[in-house]
Amino acid sequence: MAQSDLFKARTGKNDEFYTQYIDIEKEMNAYLEFDPNVFKGKTVLLPCDDPEWSNFTKFFAQNFERFGLKKLISTSYAVESKNYKSSYQPTLFEVNDPKFDESKTRIKGKIFTLTQDKTGDGKVDVDDLEWTYLKGDGDFRSDEIIRLKNESDIIVTNPPFSLFREFLAWIIESEKKFVIIGNMNAITYKEVFPLIKNNKMWTGIRFNQRLNGKNMTFYVPDDYILSGTEVDIDKNGKKMISVAGTGWYTNLEHGRRHQPLALMTMSDNIKFSKHKEIRGVEYQKYDNYDAIEVPFTDAIPSDYEGIIGVPISFLTKYNPEQFEIIGASDNGAIDEQFKIPHFKKHNEPYIDGQKLYKRIFIRHKRK
Ligand SMILES: C[S@@+](CC[C@H](N)C(=O)[O-])C[C@H]1O[C@@H](n2cnc3c(N)ncnc32)[C@H](O)[C@@H]1O
Repeated sequence: MAQSDLFKARTGKNDEFYTQYIDIEKEMNAYLEFDPNVFKGKTVLLPCDDPEWSNFTKFFAQNFERFGLKKLISTSYAVESKNYKSSYQPTLFEVNDPKFDESKTRIKGKIFTLTQDKTGDGKVDVDDLEWTYLKGDGDFRSDEIIRLKNESDIIVTNPPFSLFREFLAWIIESEKKFVIIGNMNAITYKEVFPLIKNNKMWTGIRFNQRLNGKNMTFYVPDDYILSGTEVDIDKNGKKMISVAGTGWYTNLEHGRRHQPLALMTMSDNIKFSKHKEIRGVEYQKYDNYDAIEVPFTDAIPSDYEGIIGVPISFLTKYNPEQFEIIGASDNGAIDEQFKIPHFKKHNEPYIDGQKLYKRIFIRHKRK
């Protein structure tokens, strides 16, 4: 296999992770709790989906009336265009439909739409979804899907892992509302961090969080070869994989984002902190940043006015009324004024010549 094909196969494998219904439901409930009308009168687009069996399509179709949606649009990507090659069989749903077209099934994407009660049973639900083949393969970058993006108000999906940056840029340029799945590694990407810093995007309710001892867990194709420790089989024998650091990114408001962190003063932290690294020890300054090192979010001193370096996981506790984000150690995403000339020209924070993990720099917001 040529190098580039090998690369495609490897990255393509990670593009085929399918989201569980329960994860979608829990996440969307958090936005509905904050604003019960969040989806009311809205057109929701689910791109990069597999509408015949996707839980995103199922979830929004089943809740169409309850949410007061105007329109639901869901699109899929043609099997021939996918980097991950697996044995493909069109679903019975497709084959049994008069619209089934042998010449299109592998090379065209599909579009499913839901607007009204078609079956005449008095309710709008999954059974009222209408479908057709797209003109193209359903690539989110195609004009066809861009037109659907322009028509929509909210974009919700788990995009292909290998195209995360591109997908995010695709959403951001349209200034739409969105809820998408991604990995925390993306936070310090130079295309991503400015969005977080400027409150144009934040972490959703579930982000880099283990629940019942597990990271967020996805379905994978039947012929996917499972390896490693984070693998699972559900009660129906379906293969699953847990992925560390995964979670939701969004620009929809939710309650947790407005809850202030309860914090102690610096002197109380030094006296009472549960962390041995803090208790009885002075907070240290970095060699190369004009900031103090706080290795645990709950040890942020409530009365420190300067710049504070915190782990990336701080973002799941970030409340924009309480803190301002100044920068990040990666990609030099912090203003020169906060850097101290250092014998090594590295961005990673150092203390006494020892390199530390990536840090985000924050400052208390005072009224
Ligand atoms: C991570 S999966 C998630 C699928 C579904 N949204 C879910 O969560 O169950 C991403 C999907 O996007 C598809 N995909 C890959 N590249 C794409 C592209 N350029 N345009 C549209 N879809 C793409 C993959 O084949 C895969 O079906």
